[in-house]
Amino acid sequence: MPEKETAARVKPIRVGIIGTGGIATAAHIPSYQKVEGVEIVAGCDIVESVAKNVAEKFGIPRIYTDYRKMLKEEELDAVSVCTPNYVHMDPTIDALNAGVHVLCEKPIGMNAKEGAAMVAASRKTGKKLQIGLCSRFGSGPQALKRFIDAGELGDIYYARVQALRRRGIPGWGVFGQKDKQGGGPMIDIGVHILDLTLWLMGHPKPVAASGQCYTKFGTRKDIIGLMGQWDTETFTVEDFATGFVRFDNGATLTVEASFAANIEKDVFNSVILGTEGGLQTHPPMIFKEEHKTLTDVKPYGLADVNVYLAEVQAFIDAIRNDAESLIPGEHGLMVSQIMDAIYESSDTGKEVKIG
Ligand SMILES: NC(=O)c1ccc[n+]([C@@H]2O[C@H](COP(=O)([O-])OP(=O)(O)OC[C@H]3O[C@@H](n4cnc5c(N)ncnc54)[C@H](O)[C@@H]3O)[C@@H](O)[C@H]2O)c1
Repeated sequence: MPEKETAARVKPIRVGIIGTGGIATAAHIPSYQKVEGVEIVAGCDIVESVAKNVAEKFGIPRIYTDYRKMLKEEELDAVSVCTPNYVHMDPTIDALNAGVHVLCEKPIGMNAKEGAAMVAASRKTGKKLQIGLCSRFGSGPQALKRFIDAGELGDIYYARVQALRRRGIPGWGVFGQKDKQGGGPMIDIGVHILDLTLWLMGHPKPVAASGQCYTKFGTRKDIIGLMGQWDTETFTVEDFATGFVRFDNGATLTVEASFAANIEKDVFNSVILGTEGGLQTHPPMIFKEEHKTLTDVKPYGLADVNVYLAEVQAFIDAIRNDAESLIPGEHGLMVSQIMDAIYESSDTGKEVKIG
């Protein structure tokens, strides 16, 4: 093989991190550091001490407090955007326009309008945009998808989707502030299980949604916080949301998401009904009628997968092989369109058309 070609093949992928807070340090940075041929060359946080501590801990050579400066001064191939939701769109579009591939945390943006602008920038520049909807990489969902693709569920017509916490209002970050997050549990955790369900259903086109949001706990000072103490004064998002979604193929879906609710225990699960079988995602099970017998199929021996490492590996593979990302911006945008419609319906009291 010519020397130049060998050099080109082993050239490391140079990564920058935008926002070096919780998810960057728990997931993105350690994952990149496990992938061969990847170098994290710089990290950026508006809080300099945060960037500095993280850089020291993970051995990241350079830090910035302005991501635009980092994009200008570093020869980056890719960035992870790990900032709060209101700082997803601008760094993503600026990075794409600078010729840099982007792995942006979920949700894609504050709303579908932002998401559409991000997808448009990715298409215009030809640079990859992957969204951090990592639940799909679990070995359970991957196994269930293989059963669905083999036709085991038949015609899928309904899903019941739940991301419910009994007392789990985040006590850090800006998760309670509507102007910085775009919403509460629906946009923060509902987004994961909604995306997982849409993927398992084969991404039918959503055409309308209705819903209702409630704020019953987040502004109260007498409520237990199992995920830390949040600021009740600045809490402006819903703490429970429910929605009903229609798809163009006649399928429907209900979704519930809570940060706090008077329920027995937390639930993160999707139940999907098909003509030949049904399933639940957490724990993974398939329900069928076979040979005049009702059967439950319980996958056995599934690997313990680090979904964050899997998403980073998938992002790097897509860049290396110039392949379509497994979770492209378009998928993140579809979830945002549904969530926007649920939030709008809650405000107007009417079903909202999508698309
Ligand atoms: N995929 C998952 O399972 C998962 C889990 C947690 C969080 N998230 C997502 O990750 C994002 C961040 O969440 P987090 O929990 O890490 O929050 P965090 O508050 O711990 O970290 C965010 C960091 O971004 C920094 N920041 C804010 N504005 C910035 C700017 N303009 N430039 C550079 N840095 C800036 C903050 O100073 C902070 O250090 C959110 O969008 C959240 O939805 C995803």
